[in-house]
Amino acid sequence: MKKEAINPFILYGYEGPEYFCDREEETAQLLSAFRNQRNVTLYSPRRYGKTGLIQHAFHQLDAEDGITIYIDIYGTTSLKEFIEVLGQAIVQAVEQDRDGFIHRVGRLFKRLRPKVTFDSLTGEPAIELDIQSKAEEEQTLRDLFAFLEEQPKRCWVAIDEFQQINNYPEKQVDGVLRSYIQHLSQVQFLFSGSQKHLLLPLFTDPNRPFFQSTDFLHLEKLRAEAYGPFIAHQFKRHNKHLSQTALDRILTFTRRHTYYTQYLCNRLFGKTIDQATEEDVDAVIIDIFEEREPIFYNYRNLITPLQFKLLTAIAQEAVLFHPTATDFIQRHQLNSAATVRKSLQSLIDKELVVEVFEEGKTAYQLNDVFLAQWLAWKYG
Ligand SMILES: Nc1ncnc2c1ncn2[C@@H]1O[C@H](COP(=O)(O)OP(=O)(O)OP(=O)(O)O)[C@@H](O)[C@H]1O
Ligand SMILES: [Mg+2]
Repeated sequence: MKKEAINPFILYGYEGPEYFCDREEETAQLLSAFRNQRNVTLYSPRRYGKTGLIQHAFHQLDAEDGITIYIDIYGTTSLKEFIEVLGQAIVQAVEQDRDGFIHRVGRLFKRLRPKVTFDSLTGEPAIELDIQSKAEEEQTLRDLFAFLEEQPKRCWVAIDEFQQINNYPEKQVDGVLRSYIQHLSQVQFLFSGSQKHLLLPLFTDPNRPFFQSTDFLHLEKLRAEAYGPFIAHQFKRHNKHLSQTALDRILTFTRRHTYYTQYLCNRLFGKTIDQATEEDVDAVIIDIFEEREPIFYNYRNLITPLQFKLLTAIAQEAVLFHPTATDFIQRHQLNSAATVRKSLQSLIDKELVVEVFEEGKTAYQLNDVFLAQWLAWKYG
């Protein structure tokens, strides 16, 4: 039997549907696309819950006896590393035990003198391939996809942080991938990422190979009607009471941003013996601020004074719709519209600020809700 998690507010990985809030529509949309042989591009700002959603949908597909393969390519820097990560995940999905894994890798990659190592801490296998040429690279990809296509079950492959392929030294990696993917009939793909300006052009630019080849799923914040009751239920399940004002305070403070909400609830839950009030929430917030203050102050050294001023101004606004509007610039003494535009772009490039859609309009907000609240509190 699976052990009950001690704290129901999960911060890493996926622990099952009972710890996962809502996303019913999005899950249904993903599953429907998959079952009807459509690929999907999933995107959202950082830490809204893309990876969680993929794992939640895969959890259901696993139960239907499909083969699900999830890879995160954020740490890869070349097509060779992509192939190693993908190869490892594919073999792992079909071979559960260590001997089966080694045997399969030896057969599937025999020309590439494969090396298999096992992490001494986690026991996770890793493959190293001796790929010498572009031709070998392409042949290996072809073999991998052919292997998936031959499986007796349907396969679903999620490639998380897909925008990373833009950073590979090889040109047109999307063209190479697309050339194989389009011929598969038993394998569906999900591409996801958070850097919208790097991810979406791969699928929306008519000159790119993946143009119009996927559905789009834009993940928004969890709905307040779902998140509030979910949080209250998790406390109640452990015989702890959370007051309505405490709950309101949590959701207002975190702006319902998934990770920050989970984190604040995780800390509050850990401190609560039988009941939690609004004052208890505030006490946790102060703890978090104190712990992170050295890091927050350090941002001033990492960006220019004008960028810091703009960052603080956006934090005070919570969500900013018109960064170059005269009243915003005057209220925060921000020089000119031209310098604001330039600083804003730098903050977006540094992933401190993110462009979002709110109420059908483009808006800007800080990626880090705790930083935003701290700046608003400190400099407001
Ligand atoms: N529906 C949900 N219910 C409860 N917790 C969730 C839900 N979705 C995500 N989480 C939690 O929120 C946090 C962020 O989720 P996740 O890592 O899936 O986001 P992400 O969008 O993939 O982030 P990143 O952009 O950094 O890759 C994690 O702690 C995860 O466990
Ligand atoms: Mg993720």
